[in-house]
Amino acid sequence: MRLAGKVGIVVGAGQTPGETIGNGRAAALLFAREGARVLLVDRDLKLAEETAALVGKEGGTALCFEGDWSKAATGKAYVKACVDAWGRVDFLHNNVGIGGGDAPPARVTEEAYDRIMRVNLKGCLFSCQAVLPVMREQGSGSIVNSSSIAAVVYAPSLTAYKLSKMGINMLGQQLALSHGKYGIRVNTIMPGLMDTPMAIEGFVKEHGVSRADLRAERDKQVPLLGKMGSGWDIGYASLFLHSDEAKFVTGVVLPVDGGQSARIG
Ligand SMILES: NC(=O)c1ccc[n+]([C@@H]2O[C@H](COP(=O)([O-])OP(=O)(O)OC[C@H]3O[C@@H](n4cnc5c(N)ncnc54)[C@H](O)[C@@H]3O)[C@@H](O)[C@H]2O)c1
Repeated sequence: MRLAGKVGIVVGAGQTPGETIGNGRAAALLFAREGARVLLVDRDLKLAEETAALVGKEGGTALCFEGDWSKAATGKAYVKACVDAWGRVDFLHNNVGIGGGDAPPARVTEEAYDRIMRVNLKGCLFSCQAVLPVMREQGSGSIVNSSSIAAVVYAPSLTAYKLSKMGINMLGQQLALSHGKYGIRVNTIMPGLMDTPMAIEGFVKEHGVSRADLRAERDKQVPLLGKMGSGWDIGYASLFLHSDEAKFVTGVVLPVDGGQSARIG
């Protein structure tokens, strides 16, 4: 019960449909399993409700909230919903991220750039901004933002995604330093190559490769046992960062990537 008595929000708590579990759903399930009550936010309510049903099956407590976080007003509304329901917000888990339609810098379109930056970076900024007054008042709080190792490794086919994730890394450090005095911790996770529907299904659809070939290609890039991670690996890292075990950890940009980013040196 590492989050016993705590209350939190998971934004992007549904998942891309597919064969495996996504980062956000796995994290939400672990938070609830460890004693937290969770508000599950997604732009697609049905996807959040699927996660809530899994939480409920395990005896946990979850509420759902439909909203597009790329509008600043949505963040304010889900923070209010959490406070109305449970009186506080101990943690905010910002999981939303998209990458469809991205391309190398020489080819990326204005539409794709605007959409990806708006959803990934603007959404994350205003989600953090919405929760800060509540956490400042409490004198405590934990925020975890989802970046990607694409921010720091060569990612030739990604432009807007990479830039948005580098922005998230910097946002986390900026917030950690400016809000440490209020007892608010802000950390960032950089998932590596994960066997999640977001990574597999999205790419298969966009590039027409087989799932088996894509998995083999991704597996062989991972130093640790030549195998991708799963949504649970991101979930457990998130659980640690939101728990009191991490009470002296803030401003960290943590790769969870089977060693892939160690190649950078
Ligand atoms: N899955 C991976 O392999 C991988 C690798 C590196 C980084 N990441 C990062 O991890 C995070 C998510 O991983 P996941 O596996 O949970 O993805 P996912 O696609 O399964 O889940 C994301 C959820 O966010 C929701 N969402 C999308 N846009 C939204 C918006 N504007 N407002 C509210 N909700 C919205 C989607 O409906 C979906 O349910 C992203 O930030 C992603 O960039 C993932």
